[in-house]
Amino acid sequence: MGTAAKKSSKIRRMTAADINLVGELARELFKDEWSQETWIAEINNNISYYTVLEIDNQIVGYAGYWLVAGEAQIIRIAVARKLQGQGFGNLLVADMVERAIREGALAVSLEVRESNIPARKVYEKNGFVESGIRPNYYQDNHENAVIMWLRTEQG
Ligand SMILES: CC(C)(COP(=O)(O)OP(=O)(O)OC[C@H]1O[C@@H](n2cnc3c(N)ncnc32)[C@H](O)[C@@H]1OP(=O)(O)O)[C@@H](O)C(=O)NCCC(=O)NCCS
Repeated sequence: MGTAAKKSSKIRRMTAADINLVGELARELFKDEWSQETWIAEINNNISYYTVLEIDNQIVGYAGYWLVAGEAQIIRIAVARKLQGQGFGNLLVADMVERAIREGALAVSLEVRESNIPARKVYEKNGFVESGIRPNYYQDNHENAVIMWLRTEQG
């Protein structure tokens, strides 16, 4: 899938009606995924903002951040396995940064597993710079987290 899929793709804000499908996608991609209750709490939380990526009205990706005191923190980004490596992660991050800035973010940060090369690449492409390591950050395998920051023109 290439340019045609990108043209027919759309990113919009996540709603409660999306949670079942987002939950399915999340279980496909993450070991310790959130319960339905956590998702509902997340999208009703004033500080959080989640988006979904649709192709032909099917949810194939999602992303989200928290915004506190002018700093956005990216919480999640995911693309369905069969569509990975075609630029959709890049679209989701670029869109999320744009939305965060529009909502008042002066800087955007995130933590990513050291071994997650596709995610690190997508963030780097969008201007994020590595600024440190949190050793043994992830409980499941004691992997390090890489901390990345993006400062906006206002920040
Ligand atoms: C991280 C993720 C969202 C990226 O989405 P995507 O649609 O695959 O991203 P893109 O296609 O825009 O870009 C991926 C980049 O990684 C590269 N890449 C993919 N697999 C790779 C690998 N095994 N080794 C090196 N580079 C790799 C691609 O070549 C591409 O870089 P390029 O544009 O320079 O060629 C997706 O892989 C995903 O959902 N992963 C599972 C969930 C996850 O780990 N989320 C992040 C933490 S919350």
